[in-house]
Amino acid sequence: MNTEIVKVISLVASANDLARAGELIREGKLVAFPTETVYGLGASAYDGEAAVSVFAAKGRPADNPLIVHVAEPADAEAFAETSELYYKLAERFMPGPLTVILPKKDAIPPEVTAGLDSVAVRCPSHPVAHALIRAAGVPIAAPSANKSGRPSPTTAAHVTHDMMGEIPMIIDGGDSDFGLESTVIKPDGDGCIILRPGAVTPEMLAECCRSVAIAEGVTDPAMVGDKPLSPGMKYKHYAPKAELILIDGDDEAFENYANAYSADGYAVLCSDEDADSFPDLIHLSVGKRGDTHEYCHRFFSLLRHADEIGARAIFAKLPSAEGEGLAIYNRIIRAAGCRVIKLK
Ligand code: TXA
Ligand code: MG
Repeated sequence: MNTEIVKVISLVASANDLARAGELIREGKLVAFPTETVYGLGASAYDGEAAVSVFAAKGRPADNPLIVHVAEPADAEAFAETSELYYKLAERFMPGPLTVILPKKDAIPPEVTAGLDSVAVRCPSHPVAHALIRAAGVPIAAPSANKSGRPSPTTAAHVTHDMMGEIPMIIDGGDSDFGLESTVIKPDGDGCIILRPGAVTPEMLAECCRSVAIAEGVTDPAMVGDKPLSPGMKYKHYAPKAELILIDGDDEAFENYANAYSADGYAVLCSDEDADSFPDLIHLSVGKRGDTHEYCHRFFSLLRHADEIGARAIFAKLPSAEGEGLAIYNRIIRAAGCRVIKLK
């Protein structure tokens, strides 16, 4: 299949391309598009066959449901049972990087939700994502636009690498702003449970929810079990080809451990300030020390870069799980195949 790459710099200048992209979605075809979190691989949420082709293009396990993207929070009425809490959350966090699990209505075919009786709803803030949903005239089911198990794509080049020749169109809208996928929550009475942490932190959710719980598997994959609240929790994720060696220890112990490997092809995830502490390793900069937002923004891109330069291993220090750090923590332990080396 020929894959057309369409660059969108201004919505007005690209109106025709976006109209064509919307038409492809309505015809049951797949279009990759930018969002503020990561790139998505979109299909009509009302078309079961199109959803099946999303799973095929990604090589995604059939039991892992897709998120349905809407242009306005109220658009979810057509296919989900909304609630007072949903609208309270929507008022505060939508459009934006929050996904809410709601009971589903019949309009969404079972292929989209992997047979579950719930549906994940997200209203992205990226203007191109918004324009595409509007142009399609239907809600868009979209997982991240990577091959299953690979780091999620944060640029159109990442999507091209994984999806070239498999889908008719990739819309290039520049770098994803946040760089990690949305926060996924399940309402629970007046409270909520976080199934996947993201840019909307537990502290922010506490402004709207009476209680905020974090599902056990978020920080401890060993606790996920066979039937998790969110099927995506149980799969190995985000893995680069290089081995990611995750160390739980103080700075000195981490430096000594990583610096013992001085042969070619060993890399380290480190802040700009700490780069000098690893003279013989390849530096993968996560930004300035303590800048968690920048770490999130660069993380998946750095894992892909490590593969491009042929790194054989990447050392990383187990990050703090505070605030936005919880999202990095959740991704990095999975990228490391859930192995953490304790040095204290
Ligand atoms: O930021 C994002 O959420 C991106 C962009 C493209 O919007 N999308 C994304 O989709 O990350 P995906 O498919 O890579 O991850 C969706 C996650 C999976 O862990 C899945 O198991 C969970 O959401 N999920 C989807 N529907 C669910 C449901 N009904 N119940 C529980 N978990 C659900
Ligand atoms: Mg994904």
